[in-house]
Amino acid sequence: MPPSSSSRRIELRSETPPGLPSPNPWILKLHFSSYRELCPIRDLLPRHVPLIRLDANENPLGPSPLAREAIQRAAEESHRYPEIAGEGLRELVAAELGAGPEQIVFGSGSTELLELLFHVFLRSRRDEVVVPRHSFPLYEMLAHRFGCRARVAPDRNFAVDLECLRSAITPRTRLVFLANPNNPTGTYVDNRALLDFARSLPAHVLLALDEAYADYLENPPDLVSAIRDGAPIVALRTFSKLHGLASLRIGYALASPAIAHAIQKAALPTNTSGIAQGAAAAALKDGRHQQESKRIVREGRLRLQRCFQESGLACVPSGANFVMVRLPHAEEVWKALVRRGVLVRSLDSWGLPGWLRVTVGCPEELLQFIGGLHASLRELHGKPPSLAREVGVA
Ligand SMILES: Cc1ncc(COP(=O)(O)O)c(C=O)c1O
Repeated sequence: MPPSSSSRRIELRSETPPGLPSPNPWILKLHFSSYRELCPIRDLLPRHVPLIRLDANENPLGPSPLAREAIQRAAEESHRYPEIAGEGLRELVAAELGAGPEQIVFGSGSTELLELLFHVFLRSRRDEVVVPRHSFPLYEMLAHRFGCRARVAPDRNFAVDLECLRSAITPRTRLVFLANPNNPTGTYVDNRALLDFARSLPAHVLLALDEAYADYLENPPDLVSAIRDGAPIVALRTFSKLHGLASLRIGYALASPAIAHAIQKAALPTNTSGIAQGAAAAALKDGRHQQESKRIVREGRLRLQRCFQESGLACVPSGANFVMVRLPHAEEVWKALVRRGVLVRSLDSWGLPGWLRVTVGCPEELLQFIGGLHASLRELHGKPPSLAREVGVA
């Protein structure tokens, strides 16, 4: 089904009708953005063409069977308030990680936790945060919302450069954001270098390590030990990706007890629903679904990367469930793909014109994407031979 309201450009009215209190003017100036493309997809997508969504790095398998059952059960209790800070789930996550329950805080997706970090650590508008170039736009968006400065550190061949991050730190820096693997590039940093970087931060700086895609790493860093040993890290994790629960909005922060306590204080009570808590608990127990989801990503990512390379299209080796690819006339290709019912992410508005980000879907979805890409490139530039081989067309 095509996306609903988010697919239409939303115009914010800046004039308040007489008789109503006027909102804060700077709020009205903020750029509204959603995760979904704000481009009018419906205007491009022919009626009755089903849309394949490879634009938001979701799990194509959906929630695990155990989570689906838990959702049904929890739905029966929808008239009850949930546990105020997800106490039951907290015990479970802590046991899974080998951390203390007092180190875990839940949020309405890791998005809410990112915002809470600003509430907890930014004291004045003169404070700053450091963000890598070509990373998740929410970090800069939040800095803008909080009226503070985001210093952007250059990257190196699309990979986060820890030295550049360090150089961007000033006495006013409170938070350094680092997504590992990074979105939209898919690159990740070496574990040893990452932990050394964190340990060497000045005392006034906390590393906000966004691990939305860390479940896809073969060898993720041992943050529980690092945090226990005093590394100034808050890790942000989500049930939206590997666990396929994006719509239920649940993620968590792992930090030292003192920092977790402060984040918990800043959070509103009952910020995650009973359905989300129940589903997350069940998803954690479903090792089989997790393994299958990882396999789909491992194999699909290789297939996509091989296909791009064979076609002479530059792509960035990825450790996540998406791949970034450079295409001639990428915006036109993006539109041509939507016309064929395939939605990927255009990175034009992320400061990467000429690049698209493709989520690793299930094999049939990838086949459809590769076929759509082939047809789109042929329409725009003539026939690309190796893509034709991949989809079995002459
Ligand atoms: C790097 C990164 N961090 C955080 C998020 C937000 O995830 P959640 O659904 O938990 O809010 C995303 C979502 O795409 C992401 O790519």
